[in-house]
Amino acid sequence: MTGRVEGKKALITGAAQGLGEAMARMLAREGAKVAISDINFELAKATAALINEIHPGQAFAYAHDVASEDDWIRVVEQANADMGGLSVLVHNAGIGGGLKWIEECDLDHWRHMAGINTDSIMLGTKHALKYLRENQPGSIVVISSMAGVLAAPGMGAYNASKAAAWLLSKTIALECAKMGWDIRCNSVHPVFIKTAILDPFIAMAGGDEAKAHERLSRGIPMGRIGEPDDVAYAVLYLASDESKFVTGAELRIDGGMSAQ
Ligand SMILES: NC(=O)c1ccc[n+]([C@@H]2O[C@H](COP(=O)([O-])OP(=O)(O)OC[C@H]3O[C@@H](n4cnc5c(N)ncnc54)[C@H](O)[C@@H]3O)[C@@H](O)[C@H]2O)c1
Repeated sequence: MTGRVEGKKALITGAAQGLGEAMARMLAREGAKVAISDINFELAKATAALINEIHPGQAFAYAHDVASEDDWIRVVEQANADMGGLSVLVHNAGIGGGLKWIEECDLDHWRHMAGINTDSIMLGTKHALKYLRENQPGSIVVISSMAGVLAAPGMGAYNASKAAAWLLSKTIALECAKMGWDIRCNSVHPVFIKTAILDPFIAMAGGDEAKAHERLSRGIPMGRIGEPDDVAYAVLYLASDESKFVTGAELRIDGGMSAQ
């Protein structure tokens, strides 16, 4: 099937690389215009240029710190103008931040993580809603994590930031439904997926990528970690009208981990 998101206009944060880049490529392939925002503007421009080589005129790039309210106001306005509307918002930008047990955790670390992984969802949704309302049906997708559902030692700041993102996505879903807007909001919860966010685990394995992946796979019933497209396909479904009656839901992309 092609054209699953034909005519959609999607802003994806943190889309210069990793999962966001895979989402941008897939949504463009399926007919959407894509606004690639990232704190790494040079890489965002390069990613947009590569997509435009295959799908001319479909990708745009923006410098964007998702923890900054001023940036959000500017980026949603520009993206809406460049794409001729905004109908999909993917809150993908996020940081891992390494392991810090609670006694090593300081407020700077905690607030930095919360600013990028959680505050961004409140700020971005707040400022994007007026454009999404003008382009109904709309879809907001929050990239949380299995770490927002299951805790792990040393991951308190990340666990809390992603758990907050998870429940916030349900609040947004309920507020939109209550207002009678055809704007849905759902969360996606990947387990380990092969992107740069796993680099600290590779470093812990002495730079041996295969060994790191094998260690990370141990708790996953399917016995492997995921590929970026495993997550991009979930976002494609949630961004498309195929999921028109799905809101306030969470989709776990975890190789069976949470079924245990
Ligand atoms: N890869 C995994 O194993 C995994 C698992 C669960 C959840 N996630 C989540 O998926 C999302 C994408 O992660 P990824 O694996 O692609 O990581 P990644 O590090 O490859 O990509 C993250 C992107 O976000 C950008 N970014 C960082 N801080 C930003 C900021 N303040 N403003 C705007 N952009 C910023 C980075 O420049 C980068 O392009 C994150 O929210 C992450 O928490 C990833």
